[in-house]
Parts: sequence; structure tokens; C-alpha cells
Amino acid sequence: MLRTHTCGELRLEVAGEEVVLTGWVQRLRDKGGMLWIDLRDRYGITQLSFEEGVTSPELFEQARSLGREFVIQATGQVIERFSKNDKIPTGAIEVKVTKLEVLNPAKLPPFLIEDETDGGDDLRMKYRYLDLRRTPVRRNLELRHRMMRETRNYLDSLNFIEVETPVLIKSTPEGARDFVVPSRMNPGEFYALPQSPQTFKQLLMVSGFDRYFQIVKCFRDEDLRADRQPEFTQIDCEMAFITQEDILSTFEGFIRHLFKAVKGVEIAELPRMYYADAMRLYGSDKPDTRFGMQFVELNELVKNKGFKVFDDAELVVGINAKGAASYTRKQLDELTNFVKRPQIGATGLVYARVGEDSSVKSSVDKFYSPEDLQAWAAAFEAEPGDLFLILAGTKDKTRKALNELRLEVGEQLGLRDKNVFSPLWVLDFPLLEWDEETNRYHAMHHPFTSPKPEDLHLIDSDPGAIRANAYDMVINGVEVGGGSIRIHDRGVQEQMFSLLGFTKEEAIAQFGFLMNAFEYGAPPHGGIAFGFDRLCSLFGGADSIRDFIAFPKNNSGRDVMIDAPAPIANAQLDELQIKLK
Ligand code: AMO
Repeated sequence: MLRTHTCGELRLEVAGEEVVLTGWVQRLRDKGGMLWIDLRDRYGITQLSFEEGVTSPELFEQARSLGREFVIQATGQVIERFSKNDKIPTGAIEVKVTKLEVLNPAKLPPFLIEDETDGGDDLRMKYRYLDLRRTPVRRNLELRHRMMRETRNYLDSLNFIEVETPVLIKSTPEGARDFVVPSRMNPGEFYALPQSPQTFKQLLMVSGFDRYFQIVKCFRDEDLRADRQPEFTQIDCEMAFITQEDILSTFEGFIRHLFKAVKGVEIAELPRMYYADAMRLYGSDKPDTRFGMQFVELNELVKNKGFKVFDDAELVVGINAKGAASYTRKQLDELTNFVKRPQIGATGLVYARVGEDSSVKSSVDKFYSPEDLQAWAAAFEAEPGDLFLILAGTKDKTRKALNELRLEVGEQLGLRDKNVFSPLWVLDFPLLEWDEETNRYHAMHHPFTSPKPEDLHLIDSDPGAIRANAYDMVINGVEVGGGSIRIHDRGVQEQMFSLLGFTKEEAIAQFGFLMNAFEYGAPPHGGIAFGFDRLCSLFGGADSIRDFIAFPKNNSGRDVMIDAPAPIANAQLDELQIKLK
């Protein structure tokens, strides 16, 4: 090793010892006769000191000539610091340098390599290797590492076996577009990168592996957001000979283990909520349950009083923002503009304040008597100082808009504390989802999810009402994982494909391998996959998964550091027999 110690480990106890340190020059302070250097590596920062008259003039000059981010090796003696720095673990000592070697000089970095940097997003991504030198970013990757280790520990202790599945596969319909890879040896044919290892893990159950997991890269060509990357990592799991209850308890155990082992946080038993209730009470299949503010439906109370907006609406529904009656007119106008933005699409916002004397004043007072408003207050279980926010319109759209408003108001009222964790299971998702564009049903989860047997009678009359044996784990409004009990019977799987509009031939061409496998002794099975990047950002208290990925893509799916995607040479295109338009 070029060093005897790291920059994070020297303490007062070793004062007097001769040491050799290596690292990057974080900062240089030149006070004339004294010169200090903060030397940084992955483990911390140690102060190096040089004193004119004590340090040789050549060495003093050499130190003075160092620039930020030079890579150096420093030999010297550990001494007690005159003025200690109790903010860093090595703050009681410094190293009085006797020998200095520049291992590599460095250009001036394009942004400050400090906890608070002056680099914008694009610059940081272009020089991601420098960004990763910064402590907060490095800590994120250290957290990711610990989470990976604890995931493996937990699953290994329960007899799960990690099996790698291929990356060059055939397209699996998981809802997003595939990334495809041309095959030189099979001109005109393409592999697809897996959106998930779904079919392979099911085949492993047929093979008898019984408990599988894999920490695995998945690829989806979809619109990107803070919590979505085109390549992301799943903790993908599957179990055989289980019921849904077994999956829920195994993975509830998993998440509790992770919280305990990685964050020292005890998580109580996970509450369970049906999909239908989540939609009714929160307008979302991933409710943020860190705070209440559940939806209150008001149709019965508000109709037929002459207010057309409410009279014409399919649903009138509101929330009680507790203690927010002090919101000013300006704040309420801002909330109104918020819900009227095209991406939310509400036509307006009705509000009412509860005064200290419990009287209610609304923005639609001319239609409603004080008694009417008291009835609203009762429905909202109101107290003095509360604020009701009410939307009206078609059911789905209004619930969706109120969900956005609830989250916004929750944020404004400080109810979404990043140090509070509120996980839950959402159960009994619909099996199918109607797609206006293609005018047919799509599988809400994926086509391998089993329907609830008690709902099968709806198959012809009301397929949209069939519930699935499907579940999501949600934490603080983030869908961190989802899975289902699978179909393991060829006949049922064929029926499912036909419901989804596949012809028999199409189903066989795409999924014949899986349906054939079901005829060779497929055990009952089911599983789940967690979005690992999302779990990491949640544990790290961040909104974006990007900073928990070493080399992420930007919102246009580009890696600006290596400049990908990029055109390829004509010769390469010819070899692949691909002609560009
Ligand atoms: P699903 O499609 O729900 O299920 O994905 C599982 C979890 O993966 C995470 N996730 C993402 N994370 C980051 N970027 C993305 N683009 C992205 N897309 C999804 C989410 C999600 O809950 N094969 C099934 C699982 C199963 O049935 O066992 C599947 O992939 O946190």
C-alpha cells in the first residue's frame, strides 16, 4: 500500500507516530508562515501542516504549489492540534509533514468538490466521477451497498437462492416499450432487454428452485421522472408452494429487517388497504399515509341547492386541511391555480373555513345555508381553525386531482417528514385496465397475474371488475414494490391471453415456452419485485433516485458523461443489415 492509514482514522492516541497518507487536496490554507492542507479520501479528511522554519524551505514551497484535487502522498508525524475541530473525527490531530510526493497533478475541477457544490445538474453529470468524490453522493452509494448486503443476508437466511437470468431476451409485455438489440448473426432479428425477469423466474419455479431472488438490472423505454430511470435495479423474488399470505409476511419481514439493519428504525406491522379503498380515500393506489386528510365524499350533502357545478358533478369530494383556516386569499388562489394546471385539470376549487366559534364560511355561501355548512363540518369531523378544500367533476379525474392537492397541502403543512416512514400493503388490484387508445383491456400488472377465483364469473359480463391476486408495497406515497400470485395452469393462462386480445397463435408465438412449461409440473407460485433505487432514495431521504445510482441517465435518457446514445458507424450498420431512414 502507498499509505499506512486512511484520511479518516487517525486519533489523538497515535500522536507521535510516523504515518503515510494518500488522497486528494481538498483545500489549502496559506497563512504566510503556516500552511495547512485538508487531505481527503473516501474515509474522511485529515489536516496536514507545514511550518516555515520547521519545514524545509523546499518542502514548504512544494506544498504551496499544490492545487485543488492534486493526488498526493504525505509522510509525517501525527501531532496534537493546537486548535481542535470537533466537527470531524480526525479533528484532534494533524500530520506534520516531512515528505511530500505528487502522485498526479489535477486540472482545476469544473465545480467545487464539497458537500455544498456550485455545480449545476448537467455539469455534475458530465463530470460524474468528480461528483462522486463529494461526501453526500458517496454516502448515497455506501447506503446502497449496505442495503444490497442486508437484502442478500435476509433472503439467504431464508433459503432464497440468487440466480442470474439472461439480459438478451425476447420482449416481455410489462407495460413499457422495450429497448432492442439487433442480432448480427440473425439479420433482421432483435433481442429485447428485459423489463423484468418475470418469465424466467416463473420458469425457475417450474425447475424446482422454490425460492429465488436476484438483484437485477431492468430496462424500460418509458418517459422519465424523478423516480424512473431507463435502466434501474429490482430486487426480484419468487416463491413456490405459497399463498399470498406467505408472500406478504416474508416481504414484510424483509422490509422491517432492512429498516432495522440499515437505519435502526423499528417498523410496526404493515397495515393493509384494498385498492378500492385507497382510491376512494386517497385517490391514489400509492397513498402517502404519513398523514390523514382522507377524502370525504359530499354528494349527499351538496346536491340540489342550486350550485350547478356540484349538481352536475359525478363526484363532489373534499379534504380537511386541519388548522389551515389561516390560509390567506393569496394562498387559496395559488391552490386554485395549482389544481387548474393542465396536468391536474380541475375546473376550480371550493373552500370553506371553520372559525374559532365553529361557524363555517365558504366560497359558495350564496348557495348554502349555515345549517348546510354545519352538515359539511360534521362530515369533515371539523374543529375550529380547519380548512375544507373541495373538488367536483367526474369520479376518476376528480379523485386524481384531489390526490395531488392533498399531497401539495400535506407538503405545505409539513406533514411529509422524510424521517417518518409509513409503509403499507395495497391489495386486490383490478386484473385488467381499459385502454382508450387501443380500445381493449390490458393487464394492470402483467398477463401472468392470477384472477381472484371468486371474481371469475365476471369474465364475460364485467371483466374490468375482476380483482387480481396482486399487491403493491407502498411507503410514503412511493410504490416500492409490486407482485402477484401467478397463473400456473396452461388453460387459465390461455384464457388470460385471449381476454387481452391475443389470438391463440400470437400467444403461442410469444409465450409458448411458458405455457409448455406449465404442462410439465408447474407448482403454485408467486412473487414480488422491489424497485431497489426507489428504496435507496427513500432510505436516504431524497426524492430522486438519480443520486443513488453511480452513473445515471438524465431526463432525456442520455448519459451526458459518455455521451450515449450515439450514432454508430455505417460499417456497423451494414454488418447488422440496418438501414436508417
Ligand atoms: P413492476 O413493473 O411493478 O413489477 O416493477 C417492480 C418495481 O420496480 C420499480 N420500478 C422502477 N424503478 C425505477 N425506474 C423505473 N423505470 C421503474 N419501473 C418500475 C417500482 C416497481 O414497484 N415483474 C414484476 C414483479 C412481479 O410481479 O414479481 C414487475 O416488474 O418500484
